Amino acid sequence: MTLHIKIGMFDSGVGGLTVLREVERFLPTDSFIYFGDTARCPYGGKSNTTIIRYSIENSTFLIKQDIDLLIVACHTASSLALDTLTKTFNIPVLGVVRPAVALAAKVTQNKRIGVIGTKATIQSGVYQKELSDILSGAVVLAQACPLFVPLIEEQFANETISKLIVKEYLKPFKEEKIDTLLLGCTHYPLLERLIREEIGPDVQIVNPATACAQAALKIKGDAAVFTKQARSPGKIPHQFFVSDDPHSFRQIGERFFGIELPVIQTVTSTFH
Ligand code: DGL
Repeated sequence: MTLHIKIGMFDSGVGGLTVLREVERFLPTDSFIYFGDTARCPYGGKSNTTIIRYSIENSTFLIKQDIDLLIVACHTASSLALDTLTKTFNIPVLGVVRPAVALAAKVTQNKRIGVIGTKATIQSGVYQKELSDILSGAVVLAQACPLFVPLIEEQFANETISKLIVKEYLKPFKEEKIDTLLLGCTHYPLLERLIREEIGPDVQIVNPATACAQAALKIKGDAAVFTKQARSPGKIPHQFFVSDDPHSFRQIGERFFGIELPVIQTVTSTFH
């Protein structure tokens, strides 16, 4: 009998749709409930305590929807809150950091890896630590790129101004001869063309969304994790929830992906 699971995924907002798209490609027969914390987005400049609190609240909401697996699509939340979430909830919890780190460690040849992300992600040092832990001798260069998210959301991703900012942020990597660049933020795959142009053809760009999707497939394959829990009778249509007016989530989401999003429900009670 096919095992159908219900996957809950949260992000600070709309960016996690890049992860959703990949995970559903790998798990096409499962059901997805996506929560975008649009009322409190962005997380990238917030304190650790706040990001952890938001992550617990978002996860609690999703767990109340009877999910079997929780995916933290947000890199900022994955960097700061994954350990807490794993300890707090008794269902499998998957973040984007660990799968991305494993992939980057696999593809690098010279062990010189660049990581870009929000301020909170880079300041947490989690990517740097996890890479150094699994790849001895790794040289990890990390750079916060706080202007990328607004540039993307405000539709400047293909403009000259973005090109200049990408150039500026990536300068240290070019000087340091990295061979792998990890995109440690939900939004950055949408700037991949400019990043590729700037960093050149020889650097491998790691998109954590794909690594996370593969890890989700692996967790599902370990049927023992789910046999007692999985209750979904079959695939249900995707459900989308946000914590603020859904208008801009829909607008940006549909523009990012060229798809029409179904009904987006607003939940306001806990998210302030
Ligand atoms: N989703 C966030 C991340 O992946 C980016 C947007 C934000 O700062 O909230 O880190």
